Amino acid sequence: MPTRVRDLMSSPPVTCDADASLAAAAQQMNEAAIGSVIVTDRTKVAGILTERDLLRAGAAGAQPAVEPVHLWMTANPDALGPDEDASAAWASLSHHHYRHLPVVEDGAVVGVVSMRDLFGVALLRPAAESAAEVPRGLEGVVVAETAIGDVRGLEGFYHYRQYSAVELAATRTLEDVWYLLFNGSLPDRPQAAEFIEMLTSRRSIPEGLTSLLPALSARGRPLDVLRSAVSVLGAELGWEPTHDIDQATLRDQALGLCAAVPTILAAAHRLRVGLEPVSPRPDLTHAANYLWMLLGTEPAPEQARAIEQYLMLTIDHGFNSSTFTARVITSTGADLAAAVCGAIGALSGPLHGGAPSRALDMLDAIGTPERAEPWLREAVARGDRIMGFGHRVYKTEDPRSRFLAGVAESLGGSMVCFATEVERSAVAVLGDLKAGRRLYTNVEFYAGVVMETCGIPREMFTPTFAAGRTIGWATHILEQAADNRLIRPTARYVGPPPPEAVPSL
Ligand SMILES: CC(C)(COP(=O)(O)OP(=O)(O)OC[C@H]1O[C@@H](n2cnc3c(N)ncnc32)[C@H](O)[C@@H]1OP(=O)(O)O)[C@@H](O)C(=O)NCCC(=O)NCCS
Repeated sequence: MPTRVRDLMSSPPVTCDADASLAAAAQQMNEAAIGSVIVTDRTKVAGILTERDLLRAGAAGAQPAVEPVHLWMTANPDALGPDEDASAAWASLSHHHYRHLPVVEDGAVVGVVSMRDLFGVALLRPAAESAAEVPRGLEGVVVAETAIGDVRGLEGFYHYRQYSAVELAATRTLEDVWYLLFNGSLPDRPQAAEFIEMLTSRRSIPEGLTSLLPALSARGRPLDVLRSAVSVLGAELGWEPTHDIDQATLRDQALGLCAAVPTILAAAHRLRVGLEPVSPRPDLTHAANYLWMLLGTEPAPEQARAIEQYLMLTIDHGFNSSTFTARVITSTGADLAAAVCGAIGALSGPLHGGAPSRALDMLDAIGTPERAEPWLREAVARGDRIMGFGHRVYKTEDPRSRFLAGVAESLGGSMVCFATEVERSAVAVLGDLKAGRRLYTNVEFYAGVVMETCGIPREMFTPTFAAGRTIGWATHILEQAADNRLIRPTARYVGPPPPEAVPSL
């Protein structure tokens, strides 16, 4: 297999003089059945004239018999060395959208590499090597099709199905949005009532899991407990691989899982702090029941609504890392528990779901409004990330953050004023020290403020995020399983060139 440019270039190259006429160059291309000629100034490369240039000249009414090629060629084109790796030719051609590149040795043109040459080689190489350059972190890469929702980062807009997520959070209930995600349409009143009844009957967890929770809670943080508990739940309920079950069975499992997650989390927290778990109540909404089980008192309606709105706003958000993880695992045909455990693991990272408590820790560390600017300036200068700011997709204000700032304001309390001041300073400092990066407040900043104001302990911030996001993951798992194809991409190998003889001992 050719690995160097020398092995795949066409040589000798077809060349013409810079003063040759367009007609003469075109005749050379025609006779050699090639798409370009290298234009030389003595032996040096002066430019390259391609079929595309001839077309441009024709369209502009040039007179081919008299006009010299140097008026229409691409002057001083990139060139390759004959001993460069063939992948350099591929990278250069595909990156610049060129179709031909001259090969130069000791200042003289010795050959031409064309896309056609590379296609011949590409057939013998792993498919991924002929794929387009992939940005780090898969930024902007479309990896699937979904009818669940999307995020428009430049507009600061996101939606569930065809509805604005923010409008849904402002006007509907969490159960309605859950129904919308699972069924594809919003429920009417009887449908909503039937759905709620079905969900409330599934809030309890099986005895086999209940009996394990004290031991799990004594050892791990609530999100770790949830990860383990989801595994146990799947085993207890006998969940089979998604590959082997139909959609109706998987949907039923998914509803049961999403209904049970708040019960697991609330119990994990209470056991950890030495309190008895509180049983779920069927007369409360999903969000109010969660607060009831967590705190042991019935929440004020405005607090229950605030948490409900937070959960609605964060139920789904495009192909974020945890959702992608859930879909990758589902694509292998593994069971629901496996996919959700993986998603919880991805969510636990501070760059994804682990930021809200850190954002509040930062507010504590700043302490007073006057200290905000110097504190933030020092942190950014040190290279620290300001938690609750910046987003992979939003390059303008995160609409969830704006909405939650309003929720926090309506709840009142001293923290929201301070948070608003810190936000203002942080945006200014980031704008100054990270000019051009477009860093604004993300969902996590005011999420922390809302949750703290509603009495949720900091340790439960990310678990609370997980409680809502489980519904989003489950929806994606259902969609993936309904039209599955194994997700199995490829990586570009950049280590020492193989095969190297294995050294003997
Ligand atoms: C969310 C996040 C991981 C997205 O990052 P990303 O798309 O990978 O962006 P990058 O890491 O490429 O950052 C681009 C630039 O902005 C800077 N930046 C991004 N977020 C920043 C933050 N919160 N504080 C300070 N600088 C930040 C980076 O340092 C980088 O600067 P550089 O070009 O000088 O190296 C990132 O903004 C972040 O770490 N935020 C803090 C954690 C957080 O709030 N997470 C919750 C997300 S909902």
